This record gives sequence, structure tokens and C-alpha cells, in this order.
Amino acid sequence: MTTPRPSPSGAGLTAAPVGVGTAHAKTILIGEHAVVYGAPAIALPVHGLTTRAELHVGGPWALDCDLHHGTVDDAPAAMAPVTTAWQQAVQQVSSTATGHSDPAVPPHLTGRPHLTGRLSVTSEIPMQRGLGSSAAVAAAVVDAVATASGVPLGLAERTELVQRSEMIAHGKASGIDTAAVLSNVPILFEQGAISPVAVGGRFVFVVADTGIPSSTATAVGGVRSLREAQPGLVNGLVDRLSELTRVVAGCLQQGDLDTLGAAMNEAHESLNRLGVGSDGLDRLVTAARRAGALGAKLTGGGLGGCVVALSRAEDVDEVLDGLHAAGAGGTWTTTVEGSA
Ligand code: PMV
Repeated sequence: MTTPRPSPSGAGLTAAPVGVGTAHAKTILIGEHAVVYGAPAIALPVHGLTTRAELHVGGPWALDCDLHHGTVDDAPAAMAPVTTAWQQAVQQVSSTATGHSDPAVPPHLTGRPHLTGRLSVTSEIPMQRGLGSSAAVAAAVVDAVATASGVPLGLAERTELVQRSEMIAHGKASGIDTAAVLSNVPILFEQGAISPVAVGGRFVFVVADTGIPSSTATAVGGVRSLREAQPGLVNGLVDRLSELTRVVAGCLQQGDLDTLGAAMNEAHESLNRLGVGSDGLDRLVTAARRAGALGAKLTGGGLGGCVVALSRAEDVDEVLDGLHAAGAGGTWTTTVEGSA
């Protein structure tokens, strides 16, 4: 596979010698997998876990990140989502700045300094754990290009660019990861429509990593196969997950921790019945509940990856200790609260 090379269509756009973009991780509170079949899902930002991209303008096309240090031409195929985000962001800022929809270099910009250079990406977000690592990297790259060019991009343009990169990273994706890493508040995602979720209390969530990488595409494919074999079972579980997501939205609004925790527990069982659970996920879910969590479930694609647990504020340390004792590879907390 050829790694896409950033197009020189950003010629002449350089506004700063270094463009910087950052993005945060996300966790899906409820509705994963069901969202692929049109059900609603809720995602939360994980602000404490971030990715940073820096575009040092000038010099040959080069990448500097965990998977590759060197020229874009030598980059492995796994870098394609990153180079695509870079390439398409350059084209976007060019056409936004010039009003050209044609990605070819506008004649008046030919031969001027352009947005080639060295792109460095550093990410704290573990890959293949359902935390939105690939979407966050793409978002940071797009914003780094926009900053370097001095051409601000709107949310719709950034969403489109990140989602194109996600399609390369994951194949067909619902778009929830893209929406979640670009939002600073909890969102409800339903059939591509994104709305902020009203929050009427204070909710502390703990995310814990099994340490086991998993492929979202494999998990989504497994559910699809199960649906072909047993449509009644899968459609029933999707419907129930859809109801639970609406229950959870109400709990967030009303500050109802107990019902929210119970809905998370039931969702975990439904996801297990969809075939995306694992022993490692069950171990962490059980440990979190035993340590006082009000509810716990797998988050994201499943098979491996992470769990998310709801804790009373005063029990967080115990929940974290319980998860570590059960072998969690990494833990993070994210707090959601209303502004009122
Ligand atoms: O990228 P992950 O592993 O957080 O999964 C995203 C949620 C899924 O519903 C499993 C897939 C999708 O595209 O919606």
C-alpha cells in the first residue's frame, strides 16, 4: 500500500513556522456496537489523556512518531491514516483560503513556501484500546496544519477530515470516535447527528485498560456475522442497548448515579451476549464493582481494550486500587459535571 504523500497544494499558506494541534481521548459510556445499527450512543471526553502533533514547516516531507521516524515515502502502510489527515488538511486549508474547491495549486501560490515539513506526533493514548487514539491523532494533525497555515477550519470541516482518516484506520466506522475526540463535553451520537448531553450532577468515571490490544473492525465484523446468523437475538440486544442509552441520558440529566450504574451493568451483559466480551474485560468489571463501583462495563469495540466504571467520588481510590490489583495496565479518571 502506498502511503499518501501530503499534497503541495498548501503552497504559500504558511503563517507560522510550527503548527501545533492537540486532542483528547474518549470513552464510550453506552451504546457501542448498537450505534452501528442506528441506535444512539453516549461518549465522554477523557481530557487527561492527550495527543499532540507539531508540523515544523519547511524541508522534506518527514514523520517523527512511534511507528516511524523518517521520510513519508518510507513510511509503513500503518501510517496512512496520519499522512492522509495531513494531506487532506493541507488541501482543505488551501481551498478554504483561496475559495478553490479544486485541490490543485492555485496559480498565484505556485513556487512559494508551502506546508511541507516534519510532522511529529506524540500520543499518551494507548492504541487499539477503544480510547479513540487514531481519531485523536488525526484531529491533532488536522489542527496542526490549520495552525501552521493560519487558516482556521470549522467543526464541520475538521469532522470530515478526521472521519476520512478514520475510514482508512478502521474501515467503515459510525463516526462516534471522530465526534467524541472533537467534543469537550459528553455527546449523544445518533445516526450521524451529534448533540451535547445535559448533565445535572457530578459523575466520576474510571477507565481501566486490560493491556490487551483489540481490533474494532474485528469486533464489529463479529457482531455483523452474529446478526446474520441470529437476527432476532442481535436486533433485540440492539433495541435494549438503545433503551439503556436513553435511560443513561436521563440519569446524567437528573444526577441519578444508581440507575446509571445499573444500566452500565446491564449493557455489559448485553455486549457479552453480542460476543465482544473477554475474560480480561470481565475480570476488570468484576474488580471495579467489588471495589465499590456503582456500575462497570466494557467500552468501545471490546474483545480487549478498556472498561469504564462509575464511582462515587469518595470511592475512587478504592476502585482504582481494585482495578490495579486485578491487573489493569493503566487507569484514568474523567469527571462529568453540569455547569449549574
Ligand atoms: O473505536 P472503538 O473501539 O471505541 O469503537 C467504536 C464504537 C463501535 O460502535 C464499536 C464501532 C463504531 O464505529 O461505532
